[in-house]
Amino acid sequence: MSRVESIAGEEVLDSRGRPTVAATCRLEGGATARVSVPSGASTSPVEAVELRDGDPRRYRGLGCRTAAANVSGPINQAVAGRELDQESFDQVLIDLDGTAQKGRLGANALLAASMAFAIARSHESLLQPFEQFARDAGLAPHRLPRPTVNLFSGGLHAGKQIAIQDVLVVSLSARTIDDALAMTSDVYAAAIELTRKRYGSRALVADEGGLAPEFASTDAMLADAVQSLIDAGLRPGVDAALCVDVASTHVYESELYRIDSAALERAQMIDRVVGWIKDFPIVSVEDALVFDDWEGWSELRRRVAGRSIVLADDMTATNRSRIDQAAEAGAADALLLKVNQAGTLSDGRRALEAARSHGWTVTVSARSGETEDAWLSDLAVGWEAEQLKVGSITRSERLAKWNRLLSIERQTDLPIAAWPSR
Ligand code: PGA
Ligand code: ZN
Repeated sequence: MSRVESIAGEEVLDSRGRPTVAATCRLEGGATARVSVPSGASTSPVEAVELRDGDPRRYRGLGCRTAAANVSGPINQAVAGRELDQESFDQVLIDLDGTAQKGRLGANALLAASMAFAIARSHESLLQPFEQFARDAGLAPHRLPRPTVNLFSGGLHAGKQIAIQDVLVVSLSARTIDDALAMTSDVYAAAIELTRKRYGSRALVADEGGLAPEFASTDAMLADAVQSLIDAGLRPGVDAALCVDVASTHVYESELYRIDSAALERAQMIDRVVGWIKDFPIVSVEDALVFDDWEGWSELRRRVAGRSIVLADDMTATNRSRIDQAAEAGAADALLLKVNQAGTLSDGRRALEAARSHGWTVTVSARSGETEDAWLSDLAVGWEAEQLKVGSITRSERLAKWNRLLSIERQTDLPIAAWPSR
């Protein structure tokens, strides 16, 4: 238990230059932490919602002054002077907000407060944040998460120049984080060279740092990713493989999936995705279908079993009951865990526990709008995620997390998680 002295919010800017929330928590013994929280663009309709000011004259309505004031005002009043653990602290926030999607005070305000309290407690206990996250979850980390790194970007992160959102590289043979990042950096360098030659485009990057040239089709995008692996001297499917985030909820209009120039019905979309997995070394497919198509997801999962994991982001939105529902429907076997979809650390931990109870693999993930904070890597290690998805290997808001993971590796010497076999 820790006694809160004060908690205060501020409006700061994220990696897209849009407002987000930072919070500073001070405990009575003097331990202090300041954190900031990320913000998504390809959001799920069922995730916890941010509070935005809505004043069109300021940041196009996206200001976070009210959310920050909620941290300094009602949240501070509710927790100051009280002795709390993480669970009871988060419960105060949940009760104070009182809504299912945390929109009254704002999930951005709640998560900033929750995370600042957790990290201040780690300082008070002379623990590193990952040790504190592990202790609170009753875990003792014995491995590090394998990086999945954006190579190419599309969808809402790149002006929709191509429908699918991310093509990522995962090193399969790397035995350390250090090796995995060195391999990925070579692939990224090869992709820069390839896009320069093939598309005449400079290495301009999208929101998460992926390259975003004018691909002729999704197949061309995937073929270019494979070529980049080869150009970096890697054997596709052996040394490294691809992960895909279709982010389908955002290409679904009038019950059809808009992929390249086609408008596909559910069955055709499943065939298309299965085709990609047959033709390219894809080992993970995220959000291949719209967020609430439980049946479609389970059919896809049956058809790709043994080849690719089926990773749920928009469908489950880091929400315990949606994870239970998805597991019951056989709709996925892996969770993308974004703690700001949940709104507090304790809600995130309940999602983690639900995923584990169904035997799912867990990827801890950043958002497309990030900050220079690195607590995400501590969370991934402390919660024993098998993968960490942070975006690319460029842009400092991404590198802050990879560099923190490297630092944790140097300190702990823990082995890297194996790629899950399905
Ligand atoms: P978002 O995208 O942060 O814009 O929601 C990330 C993802 O879909 O994985
Ligand atoms: Zn996603």
